Amino acid sequence: MNKFKIFNKKKILITGHTGFKGSWLTLCLKLFGAKILGISKNFTSNPSHYKLCPELKKVKSIKLDIKELIKFRKIVNKFKPDYIFHLAAQAYVKKSLNDPIDTWKSNTLGTLNLLEILRHYKKKINVVIITSDKVYYNVEKKEAYKESDTLGGKDPYSASKAGAEIAIKSYYESYLRHKKNIYFAVARAGNVIGGGDWSNDRLIPDCVKAWSKNKPVMIRNLSSTRPWQHVIEVINGYLELAIKLNKKKNINGETFNFGPSTKKNYKVEDCLKEIKKNWPDVKWKKEKKTNRFKEAGLLKLDSKKTLKHLNWKTIMPFNETIKFTSEWYKNFYNNKAQIITVRQIKKYYQKFNINI
Ligand SMILES: NC(=O)c1ccc[n+]([C@@H]2O[C@H](COP(=O)([O-])OP(=O)(O)OC[C@H]3O[C@@H](n4cnc5c(N)ncnc54)[C@H](O)[C@@H]3O)[C@@H](O)[C@H]2O)c1
Repeated sequence: MNKFKIFNKKKILITGHTGFKGSWLTLCLKLFGAKILGISKNFTSNPSHYKLCPELKKVKSIKLDIKELIKFRKIVNKFKPDYIFHLAAQAYVKKSLNDPIDTWKSNTLGTLNLLEILRHYKKKINVVIITSDKVYYNVEKKEAYKESDTLGGKDPYSASKAGAEIAIKSYYESYLRHKKNIYFAVARAGNVIGGGDWSNDRLIPDCVKAWSKNKPVMIRNLSSTRPWQHVIEVINGYLELAIKLNKKKNINGETFNFGPSTKKNYKVEDCLKEIKKNWPDVKWKKEKKTNRFKEAGLLKLDSKKTLKHLNWKTIMPFNETIKFTSEWYKNFYNNKAQIITVRQIKKYYQKFNINI
């Protein structure tokens, strides 16, 4: 039984649908038969995965800045969604350091606007709000962070996402928990990798941009570790969360971590070597001097609560996660911009015996 059929013909609003994660989510939901309306301010990269996917050409889209409450409310109330996935955000730490005010407005005020719309929303709805693992006050500890750990970001991006969570909690306690028609939960995931990401200052996009020009990529720190989870695994988690909100009323208002289930920490160098197995002509060099902003150390997520309540965990081992990603870019650069996202989504769901 394909449980994702629950989304068939359902009205689903996705904010930030044109972004990296948003485009994967929109494609998945489209494959599951949803009636989608996407709201986004812009395309955050060039090339854009969203623009390149032929399957997304006919998705209804509205260009809107979610800081504009009145227009945002009008759109939601006219569309009357059954589900909302809220992803719209200024999602980059470095950009947040250059433009903190816009980051706070988009991430905190934008989320507050959604909460305010929900406060007066009359129809039954399930809402998944996407924040980040960066909401935790990072004390550089070795142990994984649990949902109950202290919030607080040191840079504007992290702080604005933590700010959004404080707004969410207060709206839940003051209004939403008393409304019988609204069920929502918050999803905190770490960095994800996968095809179609061309953002600046992320490892894989930096690599593929250099390799596509036959240049070596300059790496800041070969021994630093990352979560290495594929975007489809986290998108699958968001969908599981939306499904469970329908059935398990005790998860209403809860937050969930979405981190990789592997115990081993893989380094940047392990990732590059793994990519080289699939894409032999890739090259890298260690960057000598660095005057870049200081990156926080690895923050691990404890996802036991998510496993318990949603039965979610990552299922692809490190080598397969990297293979999925490098195959995607290899196809794109070697086969005249061929997009294999739908093929990869289908392949992923076959692991659960779900044929799309
Ligand atoms: N990519 C990751 O590794 C990662 C990790 C943790 C959390 N997240 C979170 O997931 C979400 C999606 O991230 P992404 O990597 O796809 O980012 P992205 O930059 O690729 O996409 C961001 C999307 O939000 C939209 N947007 C930004 N500001 C907006 C505004 N004011 N009004 C309307 N739309 C606006 C953009 O147009 C775009 O569609 C974000 O909330 C981000 O914080 C991402």
